Amino acid sequence: MIMVGERMKKIFKILILGLIIIFLIFIFMVKINDTSEKKSVATKSKYEQFDFYNSKYKKRYESYHKKNPDLSTENVVTYVNIGLDNSFYTNTQKTPYLNKEYILVNKYLYLDSSYIPDNLENISVKYARSGMRLVKVAKDAFEKMASAALNDNRKIIAMSSYRSFQYQEQLYNRYVANDGVNAADTYSARPGFSEHQTGLCVDVYDGVIDYTNFEKTDSFIWMQDNAYKYGFILRYPDGKENITGYQYESWHYRYVGEKIAKYIHDKNITFDEYYAQKIDNKIKVQN
Ligand code: DAL
Ligand code: ZN
Repeated sequence: MIMVGERMKKIFKILILGLIIIFLIFIFMVKINDTSEKKSVATKSKYEQFDFYNSKYKKRYESYHKKNPDLSTENVVTYVNIGLDNSFYTNTQKTPYLNKEYILVNKYLYLDSSYIPDNLENISVKYARSGMRLVKVAKDAFEKMASAALNDNRKIIAMSSYRSFQYQEQLYNRYVANDGVNAADTYSARPGFSEHQTGLCVDVYDGVIDYTNFEKTDSFIWMQDNAYKYGFILRYPDGKENITGYQYESWHYRYVGEKIAKYIHDKNITFDEYYAQKIDNKIKVQN
């Protein structure tokens, strides 16, 4: 009996010792891991903390930040991703994601002259001037939105929607002839660079007041409160001219789908910023 008791004590001691050693090794490993993580954070540049950071643009972030020291690091990364460190209409590229509701067309990303979106359909004349076309998904959402507005006694009438490359070319050339290139570029897209060619955007008015005064109407207030619920965003907001490249257009709405529209509405950002943060880098990485 005494012999068995002694042996049990020994086994117990060994077990305790083993547990203490395992515990010490565990503490040691945690410490090592912690220091190496701290080290890697310290060696990361301040731009890398954003998941839309693009290592190819490292030099551009640094140089753009030097020129714009008051910008936050988040805005530096976002704006360089958009391409804003280059002048509008320079370093242009064909836009990817044709026929997707998150396609971006701006002063850096263009559509071919031959591009015509799939599934263009006429908007009901109840909510549009005759012959107004949008891509089906946007058309359905627009009609739903205009009908809901009507239920609230607000009229939303489409007066320009899908435009072909050739039609945009005529418009732009006419504006240039009248106002000169610099002025025309503030309010009209060059052919290939107009979002209207995607078939996903629409210019509206209230059926009475000229569209340029849409901002002063109750229909505009309704759109501010409700458009995002139907997947539409105000594409060229007031005060964001440096990002979008266009003057404020209270009448121009872009269909991006309900999820993206809500995000953009809640965060009060432009679609260019959303794309630079959530679409561009991400989808390229996945491909
Ligand atoms: N007015 C907008 C910017 C266009 O021409 O597409
Ligand atoms: Zn427009």
